[in-house]
Amino acid sequence: MALRDIIILPDKRLRLVSKPVAKIDAATKRLVEDMFETMYAAPGIGLAAIQIGEPQRVVTMDLSKKKEDEKQPQVFINPEIVSKSDEKSVHEEGCLSIPEYYEEVERPAAVKVRYLDLAGKQHEVEATGLLATCIQHEIDHLNGVLFIDHLSKLKREFVIKKYTKQAKQAAKDAKSAAE
Ligand code: NI
Repeated sequence: MALRDIIILPDKRLRLVSKPVAKIDAATKRLVEDMFETMYAAPGIGLAAIQIGEPQRVVTMDLSKKKEDEKQPQVFINPEIVSKSDEKSVHEEGCLSIPEYYEEVERPAAVKVRYLDLAGKQHEVEATGLLATCIQHEIDHLNGVLFIDHLSKLKREFVIKKYTKQAKQAAKDAKSAAE
């Protein structure tokens, strides 16, 4: 297993549309292991492969509440939303690629998701509550969509500007440290 770097806004790779996994093999298993290690270390409750720079339709998740609770790792390969409720709900969201920014997002309250597990077996789950929010957030990542895209244009532009400025400053600091 290896801890991987999480790419941060405004990294353009976050806008890529990830490719379906054609064959689940040893490389897929290694990718999933790296994703769990990176997600738990962050710490976060969900991660899409593109967040470590791999444009594949793979999501890891663990919604267990507290650190001392038993881990509940979940893997979703090629996840698809097959239906969504008309009813909406609002949850506060954050994202490891937009650190320390949280905002309320409205999404369908329930979704039915079809996906493959690591053994290649197909599953369907009726997601509600936190699982519904999280899986929609992660599937958005696979399509190059970020949770800030669900906010007003004003809020989104403010966030993009702020993180672009931070990235420029970090690059400048790294350059002067190397001099
Ligand atoms: Ni995210």
